[in-house]
Amino acid sequence: MQEDELKRYEEIGNWDFSDIKYTTKQESKWDFYQIIKNVTNSTSLLLDLGTGGGEKALEFIPDVGMIIGTDFSSKMIETANKNKLNYPNKRVKFVCMDNLNLTFPNNLFDVVCARHTIIDAKQIYNVLSDSGYLIVEGVDKYDCWELKQLFGRGQAFKDEVSISQIDLENIKKAGFKKVKFEEIIQYEYYKTKDDLLALLLKTPILDDFSEIAPSNNVHKTYIEPELFNKYVESHKKEDGIELKRVLYEIVAQK
Ligand SMILES: C[S@@+](CC[C@H](N)C(=O)[O-])C[C@H]1O[C@@H](n2cnc3c(N)ncnc32)[C@H](O)[C@@H]1O
Repeated sequence: MQEDELKRYEEIGNWDFSDIKYTTKQESKWDFYQIIKNVTNSTSLLLDLGTGGGEKALEFIPDVGMIIGTDFSSKMIETANKNKLNYPNKRVKFVCMDNLNLTFPNNLFDVVCARHTIIDAKQIYNVLSDSGYLIVEGVDKYDCWELKQLFGRGQAFKDEVSISQIDLENIKKAGFKKVKFEEIIQYEYYKTKDDLLALLLKTPILDDFSEIAPSNNVHKTYIEPELFNKYVESHKKEDGIELKRVLYEIVAQK
């Protein structure tokens, strides 16, 4: 279990970014929820790993037979169950479970999806039914790279092999027959400095899970103001402060 990470997500307690003002321009045609729509129908059983507060599952996962959303943070699951009250007709259940220790029976799910969360390809393979799909959208090593270089740290900054390559290898090794991989380049434009700062304080982009605030031993991301201002000044564009995102998509069939 990733103790530091769990502690951080427990403190945050939701994955809601609706207060942050930004726009997105994407170069590739990738649409996570459209892919899910393409491979499901009204009877599909779908597992959404690392669902957070269920925000995306509730709003964007299309109507299927049943969605099971899991997260290792009980706080996130509590939030998901609260958010669910706003979607009385959505067939969804949320349950606390570690992605690295799935306790579902084998061959259960028609589709497993995982957006911006850790996966264990072999365990997913086991819980998928024959011909079932795994759909992954991940945050890659080179995500927000200029920012990470400026701060000299960040999520996956020091990884020798990028997480996308590790996921891809593991998915192939697990036995998936058809595996499609693609890099996703996306530009985000934050309306104000405060919008960008709010993103950096909430997400682990500049976090290597090594900084502990000494006063109360609670994990905190510290953003050095001079480095932050330097980034902002050099990335101001017409649409806002630019952040280049590098994500990856994997669609695999059992
Ligand atoms: C970046 S958020 C993504 C949330 C959601 N999938 C979305 O796209 O909005 C990552 C989520 O994965 C969860 N998570 C991280 N490691 C996990 C693990 N080992 N098992 C289960 N959940 C995990 C975190 O608690 C957090 O809610």
